Amino acid sequence: MKRRKELNLSRRAFTKSAALAAGTAMVGTPLRAATSKPKTLKIGWIGAGDRGAADIRFCLDADDNIEVVAIADLFPDQVKVALDKVGKKFQDRIKVTKDTTFFGFDAYKKVLEMPEVDIVFLTTPPFFRPVQFRAAIEAGKHCFVEKPGAVDPVGVRSILETTEMARKKNLSVVVGMQQRWMPQYQEIVKRVQDGEIGEIRHVGAYWIGTMMTWHWQPRESVKSDLEWQIRCWPQLTWLSGDCCVEQLVHNLDVSNWVLGTTPLQVVAVGGRLARVGDQYGTVYDHFAFDFDYPGGLKGLGINAQIEKVTNKVCNTITGSKGEASVSRGHGFLIGPKGRYEYKGSMDGDGPMHQAMCEGIRKGEPVNQGQILCEATLTGIIGRMSAYSGKPVGWEWALKQSKLDLTPKQELSFDKPFPMPPVQMPSNTELI
Ligand SMILES: NC(=O)c1ccc[n+]([C@@H]2O[C@H](COP(=O)([O-])OP(=O)(O)OC[C@H]3O[C@@H](n4cnc5c(N)ncnc54)[C@H](O)[C@@H]3O)[C@@H](O)[C@H]2O)c1
Repeated sequence: MKRRKELNLSRRAFTKSAALAAGTAMVGTPLRAATSKPKTLKIGWIGAGDRGAADIRFCLDADDNIEVVAIADLFPDQVKVALDKVGKKFQDRIKVTKDTTFFGFDAYKKVLEMPEVDIVFLTTPPFFRPVQFRAAIEAGKHCFVEKPGAVDPVGVRSILETTEMARKKNLSVVVGMQQRWMPQYQEIVKRVQDGEIGEIRHVGAYWIGTMMTWHWQPRESVKSDLEWQIRCWPQLTWLSGDCCVEQLVHNLDVSNWVLGTTPLQVVAVGGRLARVGDQYGTVYDHFAFDFDYPGGLKGLGINAQIEKVTNKVCNTITGSKGEASVSRGHGFLIGPKGRYEYKGSMDGDGPMHQAMCEGIRKGEPVNQGQILCEATLTGIIGRMSAYSGKPVGWEWALKQSKLDLTPKQELSFDKPFPMPPVQMPSNTELI
């Protein structure tokens, strides 16, 4: 069980950081060095959209000695809206000027060339992550990296290599898996792993919801094919990885965390029930995954993005002596000792950014790149199985799959940019 050992090691390192973060959260004050004024950390923000704006707010809230000094994006309107979302509260800490706002597919390189930038926030659509992450670590920047890490196995291998490069360079890789920092998840996972519901028999990962038109706009709203695809990126597999990679990744990560390992194999199905027609790109709107984990354990994954469905977003764990359930809004378990319900703070974003800043200042950066790779690949093998109609093995996907969703043609807003066909078992080979 070599993998389990590796993962346990990284979990120990993580727990140390999480404990540090929790300690800071209890004190409840922004980070300050005891004796001297701490260095002002400067952020370069790549991908100024909705989640990036939230991440920037969480970070500026977590540490009062942080500034944003540069932005890279494709579209000026996105930057304006994102800065409005960051809001008046932080206005004096947004030190971005006309000269440090860059546009275009190479804009991220301009941010990375700025010596004063300490941390980059990578909050572009997932397709761009492997290349931008590699460039950021090569440029010697600490990284905050949104999930997922990639859209295909080739991208996951790149992220893994870059994670290792970051480790060697002592650079931070904090990833947008805020559940890892949410106290209710930490408490429930710990209690389950300590045996409070007996031996783990089954894990369930659910994100069933209505986000069918998230970031969607009609095709007619912009001229360029590619601009439409990028603005509607969750609808395109090459940009998002599909909803099971972009969204269910959070819950799949929790299943892996609870079990302390990754799946061996998956068999999946999925399809387009409500996303009918080209205006909904190429992604599916529902998936069901049957994962085999080591030791004969089974994992279920269900993901849906369909208008008017009932929401169910949580993780469940069934044990030989009880059961547990945890989400962004609850955490409880029922075992031989009765019912335990978590009642404290459920904030993960604050502790996550505090831990990142504290790690950087102490020279002990948090590196969660492996967690990101493992969760991302779990979603990717699920999608590959549903698209191809075949079982997909973890080791094969990690080491041998050549699937690379990078478009063959140059990314240009001035030329036609046709969408790839919707993938189905009838037209999809496993590669
Ligand atoms: N952790 C979470 O809970 C959470 C929640 C939502 C989204 N996310 C993740 O955050 C990321 C961003 O999602 P979002 O909702 O902010 O999307 P968004 O569309 O609002 O923002 C993406 C931004 O990136 C820009 N962009 C696109 N391609 C670019 C490129 N090549 N170079 C520079 N800029 C580029 C876009 O113009 C846009 O402004 C995604 O990976 C998503 O999965 C995480």
